[in-house]
Amino acid sequence: TDPVGDLGGEALPGPVADLGGEALPGPVADLGGEALAATVRAEAAEACERHGGAVVAPGEPFDLVLALSSADALPPEAQAVREPEIGAEGFVLARHDDVTVVLADDPAGLLYGWFEVVRLGEAAFGEARPARAHRPALRRRMLDHWDNIDVHPVMGQVERGYSGGSIFWRDGAARGDLARVRAYARLLAATGVNAVAINNVNVHATEARLLTDRLGEVAAIAAELRPYGIRVHLSVNFASPIVLGGLDSADPLDEGVREWWARTTAHVYETIPDFGGYVVKADSEGQPGPFAYGRSHADGANMLADALAPHGGVVFWRAFVYNHRQDWRDRSTDRARAAHDHFAPLDGQFRDNAIVQVKYGPMDFQTREPVSPVIAAMPGTRLAVELQVTQEYTGQQRHVCYLGPMWSEVLGFRFWGPGERTVADVAAGGGLTAVSNVGDDPYWTGHPLAQANLYAFGRLAWAPDLDPAAILDEWIGLTFPGGPGLVRATLHEMMDGSWETYERYTAPLGVGFMVRPGHHYGPDVDGYEYTPWGTYHFADRDGVGVDRTRATGTGYTGQYPAPWSEVYESLAECPDELLLFFHHVPYEHVLQSGSTVVQHIYDTHFAGAEEAAAMRLAWEKLAGSVDEALYARVKERLDEQVRCAEEWRDQVNTYFLRKSGVPDAHGRPIH
Ligand code: GCU
Repeated sequence: TDPVGDLGGEALPGPVADLGGEALPGPVADLGGEALAATVRAEAAEACERHGGAVVAPGEPFDLVLALSSADALPPEAQAVREPEIGAEGFVLARHDDVTVVLADDPAGLLYGWFEVVRLGEAAFGEARPARAHRPALRRRMLDHWDNIDVHPVMGQVERGYSGGSIFWRDGAARGDLARVRAYARLLAATGVNAVAINNVNVHATEARLLTDRLGEVAAIAAELRPYGIRVHLSVNFASPIVLGGLDSADPLDEGVREWWARTTAHVYETIPDFGGYVVKADSEGQPGPFAYGRSHADGANMLADALAPHGGVVFWRAFVYNHRQDWRDRSTDRARAAHDHFAPLDGQFRDNAIVQVKYGPMDFQTREPVSPVIAAMPGTRLAVELQVTQEYTGQQRHVCYLGPMWSEVLGFRFWGPGERTVADVAAGGGLTAVSNVGDDPYWTGHPLAQANLYAFGRLAWAPDLDPAAILDEWIGLTFPGGPGLVRATLHEMMDGSWETYERYTAPLGVGFMVRPGHHYGPDVDGYEYTPWGTYHFADRDGVGVDRTRATGTGYTGQYPAPWSEVYESLAECPDELLLFFHHVPYEHVLQSGSTVVQHIYDTHFAGAEEAAAMRLAWEKLAGSVDEALYARVKERLDEQVRCAEEWRDQVNTYFLRKSGVPDAHGRPIH
């Protein structure tokens, strides 16, 4: 048997004092330290039950000790690895003298240390391991659920959700049985996520009331998430004072309005003392906002920040603000410019507990976009970077598309050149957030392999410099424990390069969209070309792409600092994969790869569809090696992926053959 040492629960520290990377103003409620320590004890006891061993009292011999650094009687093994400051949520892991030690300053650190032991499995109890401190690079690691209480006739219950209904809401209310929410909390904690927003950023009438008379439902959900260190946030409607409070204004500078938010927020904290804060989509795609009152987004965000500050809460204020009623004939408006145009001038005006949440790209979660220049433009503001784990534009969880490599590229991007700060460094001040891909599907994510994206998000939010292939490897090990080597090798073969495969058969060279309007699934090259949404490719008989240069285009390249302002401006230097995002070029333009644009389009689309077919062949080798129902689910999705990839290939290739008149150099069938 392998006894597990006592957790040092007797000597728990008091309330966790700091919620931010740097100190935030105001007191902060207890993160639920007692509950967290109890969770770790229960996890350890359950693991012993499953794998053998027992939790023993101090004084008895043990193989693993999980201890708080403040515990009264720290065993010598733990004392030996003590560090002056491990820090919030961090832990030290070591193995020496045949004892594995997890030492943390707070119960959250113990929880994350425990899950690291789980991840390592037997290896945690093998060879000696020098003490190493693990600390989250980002303090806020958050998933935004675009879940509605009500089921929308077209969107379903979860906006851009591909995994069934909501895990929080059912039949018009919070679920009666929240066991699955508890299991979800556990799943998230194992990845490193510590915050969720439990309703859609588009806050409809029913969901707006979660802030007031339906707060009890939020509290019930918070109670399930708390034991795993996850704080609940609410998306709120900017017009709440009117919609819920009966006021005639939502003007952020109006005293009555400010008073209403202060009172309402105080009530939220009386009900949920460790409530995280608000998420706001304002003046965006029809949502109300401060523009209606001639006020700025800083005015709007600061009003909510002021209401939250006395309680230690934060507001995530989204920078996704653009004109969605554009005239496609008007070439002077560039949607890519919008967030920077609106927000960069406000830098330095936001309160310390107002976090501006910026989508990773300037458009909308496309398969390939340049990193949003807003992230470089607001050094005096806390910024959070927003990713999309739900695969709205990357195959809607019918296609295998492992996004770890994309996110890793984004997080490691250096605006100011080699050796300078990365996107992850900037986001450390605010956090990393993402739209969740989870629903009430038995596999959580519709496509079982889409779970890897959920896992990778949490891991990258904790440690942005982790290698995405290594993260995938961890996920495979945890999801298919004891599976034969064939499973591991095959999943790598299918998934490591799946993002690039998806890119190959969809919109070329960074131009984006070309999806069917509305639901955004499958190809429609001109689907958005004459719509008000600002998402155009401008293909004609001579060429394709959006001229965003300063010299002749919309000037968007000027929103970047050097060197990227120059690199993107230059036709010769602009990276191939983003060429059509920045430049309008003739079809015979020669890429850095040596291929012409139109030949590149043909080649990548043939290759992408072939790779999708190869993925399915690879999976078929696993018949009998993985659970039968899971095998069938993935197989059925791969059939659809192969079909859809061929449809993309044929529509895109045919479109560009017809526009350009340039034949494929290899004479392959184009219709
Ligand atoms: C996309 C998505 C919408 C969503 C919006 C947002 O446009 O299609 O469903 O509301 O992003 O991020 O707010």
